[in-house]
Amino acid sequence: MARQTLTFACQNCGATYGRWQGKCDSCGEWNTLVEEGAAAPTPGAARVSRKGRLFNLEPLTGEASEAPRLASGMAELDRVTGGGFVRGSVLLMAGDPGIGKSTLLIQATAALARAGERAVYISGEEAVAQVRLRAERLGLSDAPVELASETAVEDIIATLTQGKIPRLIVIDSIQTMWTDTVDSAPGTVSQVRGAAQMLIRFAKRSGAAIILVGHVTKDGQIAGPRVVEHMVDAVLSFEGEGSHQFRILRAVKNRFGPTDEIGVFEMTGSGLREVANPSELFLSERDLGSPGTAVFAGMEGTRPLLVEIQALVAPTSLGTPRRAVVGWDTSRLAMVIAVLEAHCGVKLGGYDVYLNVAGGMRINEPAADLAAAAALVSSLANSPLPADAVYFGEISLSGAIRPVAHTPSRLKESAKLGFTRAVVPEAARSEAGDDGLRASQMATYVGSLTSLVADIAALGKPRQNAAQNSGQNA
Ligand code: TYD
Ligand code: MG
Repeated sequence: MARQTLTFACQNCGATYGRWQGKCDSCGEWNTLVEEGAAAPTPGAARVSRKGRLFNLEPLTGEASEAPRLASGMAELDRVTGGGFVRGSVLLMAGDPGIGKSTLLIQATAALARAGERAVYISGEEAVAQVRLRAERLGLSDAPVELASETAVEDIIATLTQGKIPRLIVIDSIQTMWTDTVDSAPGTVSQVRGAAQMLIRFAKRSGAAIILVGHVTKDGQIAGPRVVEHMVDAVLSFEGEGSHQFRILRAVKNRFGPTDEIGVFEMTGSGLREVANPSELFLSERDLGSPGTAVFAGMEGTRPLLVEIQALVAPTSLGTPRRAVVGWDTSRLAMVIAVLEAHCGVKLGGYDVYLNVAGGMRINEPAADLAAAAALVSSLANSPLPADAVYFGEISLSGAIRPVAHTPSRLKESAKLGFTRAVVPEAARSEAGDDGLRASQMATYVGSLTSLVADIAALGKPRQNAAQNSGQNA
């Protein structure tokens, strides 16, 4: 009798082991290994040996066609996917529970259905009545969306193969789906992988676009959608902070489009509203005239985006001062602080430093260095920065300000929002030309961090306790 081999799969990263162990060697998480029965045979992998079918090998040159796309009717969503859903592609929409994935997708499905396309929404989490209730609240009841509450992938595929193939299928969520071909319980890594594999094959075969919803859990109890990331064509991450209204949709991976575009939404009482001009939103609650805030003219993909960077520098009572960052890179902050200390005589060793990007936005650009440094110095020197100025530029370890890309777009967006001054790298002087010419008149060029620090310190009255540190450059 053949002995059944047991496998233990990490519910966090999907690594499999022959025996149980407390810690996953692959991702380092504890207590994430779960017994998943016999090693699941890859569905469809027939054991009978067959003769290979011959196929043609093609040259690189030849007919090439753009992937046919289906615009969702929601401009912010289409911006992130790169122009709409590609036929036969599978997209993973990942995000924390409660962030608004179901809301966004029922809105997208309804928009498509209203445009006359066959759009199907399968919920494995909510009953049909619940989804209807939500649709009613969102004012979408009249949209001819086809709705079901199902979790068996075989049944779903059999049903959807009937009649006209839908253009868009939403599966909410992949963690609730299960297939007969895998023995383990729904929600485990093997089930998630098996169900995703079947749905991906169905998408490729039928030409339907499928969106899989995936919950990200921190504790690893439910299979993270990590295992699915490698299998799908695109991964969109839906982010936001509970306390904020803004939701940001970001492409993490995209086989058919760019990965640096973001879509911005606002959660309202009647669903997600698209925010066409995010800068206005992110700057709407500015606290004018207080020290420690600087407006950063950033870029997200092809779109300029203005956000406020807030810094608080306060005397510390700890041996090792605190450095806390929200929305920016901690090591980037450490670098800026080091450059300020080494080249500009700004001593921050005795101070706690807090840095926050307003509105729940997350910045990845090195161009934010200059704005962060300006906010830090402004807080330390207790001198508010001019309310009508924006900052951008990368700081090098030598204390020089390095130029960044897209200077004209950044300047134009700033001018559009009423800013009259921009503190920019010296080297951008030649680049601003052309259509940014008028905007470039607002630019104040800085060559080194030292001169920026001197300018800021000259603006205001130093605090009592900061006087000996920051006043020296003025
Ligand atoms: P949901 O789409 O269910 O999140 P997910 O599918 O990602 O788990 O959104 C749930 C949250 O959104 C919930 O906290 C309530 C809020 N919400 C609104 O604020 N307005 C609305 O119109 C809707 C439908 C939800
Ligand atoms: Mg949901």
